[in-house]
Amino acid sequence: MGVCMSKIVEIENLTKSYEKDSVKALNGINLTIEEGEFIAIMGPSGSGKSTLLNMIGALDKADDGKIIVDGHDLRVKKDLSDFRSETIGFVFQLHNLLPMLSSLENVELPTYELRISSDERRKRALKLLENVGVEDKAKFSPNKLSGGERQRVAVARALVNHPSIILADEPTGSLDSDNSQKILQILKDLHQQKNITLIIITHDPNVAKQAERIINILDGKVVEALV
Ligand SMILES: Nc1ncnc2c1ncn2[C@@H]1O[C@H](COP(=O)(O)OP(=O)(O)O)[C@@H](O)[C@H]1O
Ligand SMILES: [Mg+2]
Repeated sequence: MGVCMSKIVEIENLTKSYEKDSVKALNGINLTIEEGEFIAIMGPSGSGKSTLLNMIGALDKADDGKIIVDGHDLRVKKDLSDFRSETIGFVFQLHNLLPMLSSLENVELPTYELRISSDERRKRALKLLENVGVEDKAKFSPNKLSGGERQRVAVARALVNHPSIILADEPTGSLDSDNSQKILQILKDLHQQKNITLIIITHDPNVAKQAERIINILDGKVVEALV
């Protein structure tokens, strides 16, 4: 704590409805996240967690309210894909890797948004596969990998553009507890070594208790923890 901390996410009264207002997915979210925090987002299914994460990652636009991420006002910003590729690393529950590409090519894919050489691309991707412990699987299709290995590749892919924020939507939701802890440890190490802001949606209390702060979402709002 101290004067050096800066806000990386500032959200005020954020609302989002689907299907012509019949579903209020976000119903006035207020939330501030400091740079370098490790946050767990919890709450029942359908409470708006994924919608909130998608707003922070500029995958979707809010109806109303304020959302500023890494200095960008996302409600007025035009080039959202640049923002995404330069600032955000996404990890999903189902890894979303492309089966027709090798694991290495999957990790390289987001770097095509950047102006870097093919040598640099390959070097970065290989180094990351090494960091997450699956460099021996670089040439294999994700289809040939175990669930835990695939999620490691997905983490490597999320990191390849050096994001300042990792957004992970139930990243360990389809893993056994051993693999779940290994993936979480990789994310925690990154957070500690590189000061990456880590925001993880999870249902797993064992994952949540390792975070520095837990945000509880209910009916599209942030609620105080029930003690
Ligand atoms: N693309 C969409 N179209 C219509 N309704 C949606 C869409 N995405 C989410 N919703 C609805 O918004 C609410 C919040 O969903 P979501 O953010 O996915 O919740 P959570 O991730 O907490 O399970 C739910 O009622 C869900 O059905
Ligand atoms: Mg969800």
